[in-house]
Amino acid sequence: MTYIVDDNCIACKYTDCVEVCPVDCFYEGENMLVIHPDECIDCGVCEPECPADAIRPDTEPDAEEWVEFNRKYSEMWPVIITKKDQLPEADERDGEKGKLEKYFSEKPGEGG
Ligand code: SF4
Ligand code: F3S
Repeated sequence: MTYIVDDNCIACKYTDCVEVCPVDCFYEGENMLVIHPDECIDCGVCEPECPADAIRPDTEPDAEEWVEFNRKYSEMWPVIITKKDQLPEADERDGEKGKLEKYFSEKPGEGG
């Protein structure tokens, strides 16, 4: 089992999640984070920290595609262990539908 980040992180990237992860398994893209499914130890402490409610366990019905999405990008992007400022339009974009199609970037973030 693992936890995953879903599309509501896109264009928000609050990064509160990275501060609590005991194994530093968050990876940073230009406008979202992902969790490495093979590194996550399923502790669940990050889930309530996300203001956008974008972190979920993989036991939910549509989670399998998100596990593969998280795996793919965690292998391409740098690790992030330190909280940074949310994206400028985070509060406005929180909860918006269709974020994957509208805003997702495959580019890596800076990490750190
Ligand atoms: Fe890290 Fe625990 Fe969240 Fe997994 S569930 S990403 S180990 S804080
Ligand atoms: Fe994204 Fe939530 Fe972390 S918006 S960066 S999963 S705190």
